[in-house]
Amino acid sequence: MATKISFILNGDKISYEIKDHWTLSYLLREEMGLIGTKEGCGNGECGACTVIVDKLAVNSCLYLAIDIDDKIVETIEGLASTDGTLHPLQQSFVDNGGIQCGFCSPGMIMSSKALLDENPDADREEIKHALAGNICRCTGYIQIFESVEAAKELAVEDKGGKNG
Ligand code: FES
Ligand code: FES
Repeated sequence: MATKISFILNGDKISYEIKDHWTLSYLLREEMGLIGTKEGCGNGECGACTVIVDKLAVNSCLYLAIDIDDKIVETIEGLASTDGTLHPLQQSFVDNGGIQCGFCSPGMIMSSKALLDENPDADREEIKHALAGNICRCTGYIQIFESVEAAKELAVEDKGGKNG
């Protein structure tokens, strides 16, 4: 069955006809071409598919697309400014060795963004807790935690990106 839904995606108002069984990751990646959101396990275990829905980090591989109707969705594609300036979290991951192959990075960054939007002064334990569902197969987690901590400082100076 098909249903027309409306939502805000990275600041833009979208109407889209979806199949009721589609997941949000399928809608984003396969239908809309937003392949920045990764799909690893496909069953809620790795966090690679993390996006933000109404300020909460969610696993888009488990989240039904129909459930974003009337909601606000943020993906990694919405973070950089239109002039290409990276969001403080993106810049910080680059600067602090938080990225190696990069497969987990969109999910790590979106989980971190949800945390810092809610708690801009999150400490190491709160960062660890927020990233507990995000698995990285190659970077040491320490560099990832340090990247999030350093981003807190950058964010004070730079509110880049459509999503702030
Ligand atoms: S792909 Fe969604 S949690 Fe792994
Ligand atoms: S940087 Fe490769 S999986 Fe995290």
